[in-house]
Amino acid sequence: MPQIPSGARGAVITGWGRALPDKIVTNDELSKTLDTNDAWIRERTGIHQRHIGGTTAGLSVQSARLAMQMANVDPLEIDALVLATTTPDRAVPGTSASVQHQLGLKCGAYDINAACSGFVYALINAHGLIAMGAKKVLVIGTDTLSRVTDWSDRGTAILFADGSGACVLEAVDGPGQLLAWDLDADGSAEELLYAEIGGFIKMDGKEVFRRAVRIMVDSAQKSMAIAGVTADQLALVVPHQANTRIISAACDRLGVPMERTSIVLHETGNTSSASIPLAFFDAADKGRLKNGDLVLLVGFGAGMTAASAILRWQGQR
Ligand code: ACO
Repeated sequence: MPQIPSGARGAVITGWGRALPDKIVTNDELSKTLDTNDAWIRERTGIHQRHIGGTTAGLSVQSARLAMQMANVDPLEIDALVLATTTPDRAVPGTSASVQHQLGLKCGAYDINAACSGFVYALINAHGLIAMGAKKVLVIGTDTLSRVTDWSDRGTAILFADGSGACVLEAVDGPGQLLAWDLDADGSAEELLYAEIGGFIKMDGKEVFRRAVRIMVDSAQKSMAIAGVTADQLALVVPHQANTRIISAACDRLGVPMERTSIVLHETGNTSSASIPLAFFDAADKGRLKNGDLVLLVGFGAGMTAASAILRWQGQR
């Protein structure tokens, strides 16, 4: 398990933003074309509605502008852009190139595809760039899963949606906010959740559910062990927003009460790479975080990837 070397230059989040398409699709609306109903979807997933529409670049530009405004940074100050997405607008080039151009950045830009774990992968990557000399890095998690969803498949159409979350990460003297991290993947489980190029998502929901709980708990426990943090010390847990039953089973095993989680999936559905930043910055906007609070981010996704990070929140100005 890699540990952060002592003396490595640290970073803190100085601004954040969220973006959701205007169009809302309720469970009742889905029930008009699918053999499903609002009560079933709420009970089995926790989802009440989802936002649908837009492009990955367009939503990324919206959330990133808000983050840069809050951090009060000029586009020319950004040293790198890392965009987590599993639904790029084109196969080539990376969607980050389009976002970089639209934001007026003059820096390197690249996509990371780790499915729903993507934002945590990107955030850890950005901390690495700062340890290597970058001063300001823009990190975005965006997905437009509605474009790869088969709207006649009730097993997946009830879950997936679109959204974006972004933050500016800035170098600081000293260790910064990141105390520990863990990244994982298991390509042998690829067939459980995938989309061919140009195709729709295929998923074995039951098996994904079973593994999701296990790998989230495993990754979270690794990060907590490295950071020397116990469950009762965590002020907030921000899990991947796939299903409240997955979140509650994982929290139960971790010993974290549900009141200490941030949950937005009832409003957003599963937005993959956007899910963790949407929930994280919702909590920050609601004043649920104060400087010094310990936060656990933990995600899982196709691949099957898992990722976690323990942060000491310092975003409050
Ligand atoms: N509406 C109504 N009934 C349904 C629906 C629906 N949308 N879907 C299935 N059912 C029925 C089934 O046919 C079955 O009926 P039966 O008992 O008569 O056979 C019954 O409901 C139970 O079906 P299950 O598939 O067992 O339902 P389950 O409780 O497992 O819930 C779900 C399905 C919501 C998909 C769940 O398995 C799940 O959330 N899995 C995890 C999925 C996930 O998180 N994916 C994202 C990963 S992240 C990424 O990388 C994108």
